[in-house]
Amino acid sequence: MRGSKPMTASALALATAWISLAASQALGATLTVKAGESIQAAVKRALPGDRIEVEPGLYKETVFIDKDGIELSGIVRGGQWPVLDGENKLNDGVLVSGHGVTIERLWVKRYKGNGIMTQGSNNYRIAYNVVEGPCFYAIFPQFGKNGLVTHNVAFGSEDAAIYVGMSDNVDVVHNQTYASIIGIESENSHDILIENNYVHDNVVGIATTMLPALPVKSSDRIIIRNNIVARNNMKNTAPPGAITAGAPPGLGILVLGTDHTTVEGNLIRDNDGVGVMVSETNFLVTTPDDRMDPFPDSTQVLRNVFLNNGSNPQGTLRDLLDIAGVERGVDVLATGKGRDHCIADRLALTTLGTRNFADCAPGTTSAAVASMQTAKPVVATPFTADQKGRLTYLAVCTGCHTYNSKLVGPPMVVIKALYGKDEQRLADYIAKPVRKRPDYPEMPSQDYLPEDIRLAVARYILSELSH
Ligand code: HEC
Repeated sequence: MRGSKPMTASALALATAWISLAASQALGATLTVKAGESIQAAVKRALPGDRIEVEPGLYKETVFIDKDGIELSGIVRGGQWPVLDGENKLNDGVLVSGHGVTIERLWVKRYKGNGIMTQGSNNYRIAYNVVEGPCFYAIFPQFGKNGLVTHNVAFGSEDAAIYVGMSDNVDVVHNQTYASIIGIESENSHDILIENNYVHDNVVGIATTMLPALPVKSSDRIIIRNNIVARNNMKNTAPPGAITAGAPPGLGILVLGTDHTTVEGNLIRDNDGVGVMVSETNFLVTTPDDRMDPFPDSTQVLRNVFLNNGSNPQGTLRDLLDIAGVERGVDVLATGKGRDHCIADRLALTTLGTRNFADCAPGTTSAAVASMQTAKPVVATPFTADQKGRLTYLAVCTGCHTYNSKLVGPPMVVIKALYGKDEQRLADYIAKPVRKRPDYPEMPSQDYLPEDIRLAVARYILSELSH
């Protein structure tokens, strides 16, 4: 065949793609980490594009990957996994800032902060991992584009088990999450597909949120489809003061202030509060932010199966239903302003507050969207020092700090006032944080960030950050 006929353009493209794939595979070396060795040491030795295979065994470390194209891949043999154990002492299991990185088949447990987190990475893949709490976020892609989170099991998070923060073009598919405050959350993100997940026994099943005081001021185009969302009735044990502390148990799916959110084809059952709630940001968070619109617009509640939801609403949800004088068993509840919503099958559902929802046109479906990932890898341009400061702020600090409200750490306005123009002192603090406030947790050290990056982020916060 080869060479016998002139190639068509697409055959040529295919062949070129194959050759470059083969070439990149031939170029990438495989490094093996055995039980008792350090994964981080292998990452240090690895070149961009290398694959690191981790043998079954116990690894007590934080792995920080700042190189592109690394594939960190666990080997599971005879039921034995490579286990990363933070022993409730270390903050993070795997931290990724390189692009095109894969993290797969690791059992990550007992990290205080994050199990697996990406910080500003694009084109990542997080697959087939088990992430066990207690931790804050089990899987947390933050501020990146084009990612896949698939076939993971995540449980025991004190916030969201899978948390997609300020990200674009991410598929969260075929995961299982449970025993967490929120099963899956998409926060201030765009073009997110949450599909075929089993989300059960959390406080809140799936939430899409538009939160204030973060640098990204919108949240748009999210599809929640074909998930099983069941029994999300766990007692809320989030620490008082946390945003999630106000979330009433029993919410199957919560659409909080996000736009163009589609809820389609889910099995939503036995959530004791309400099946689907569409509400404005203020339902959970009241920090003022006049640069964002807190009202959800253009929600589509298409065909879903609702079974036995709403039998025992609690907290603010119960109060709301009591005021409205509603019997229990609400499938879909909408509060607040918001425009251009629609709902299908209205007559088959028990709804409250959906008077301003139109009937969705017959046949409306999101089926044409098979994936939200981009067709080609996102190309990141190299950053200047100033841009690195901003990026680090977005990718790292906003996980815990907002501009003017308490998140995990104190608001940045307070920090700006405390440090004035002293960039060096701020850069030093984040490498070696000391306990200052009795009513806050300890800030984990960010000493994996090189000195110039710490200075750049300090400069950004003290000189530029303004909302
Ligand atoms: C995992 C959560 C977390 C992350 C990520 C985080 N912080 Fe913090 N930060 C905290 C907490 C909690 C405190 C409060 C600690 C205390 O007062 O004891 C804090 C306090 C601070 C303070 C106050 C120090 C003082 O003198 O009062 C500064 C400055 C600070 N953080 C900067 C940063 C910067 C810059 C980043 C990003 C590079 C960052 N933090 C990332 C949680 C975090």
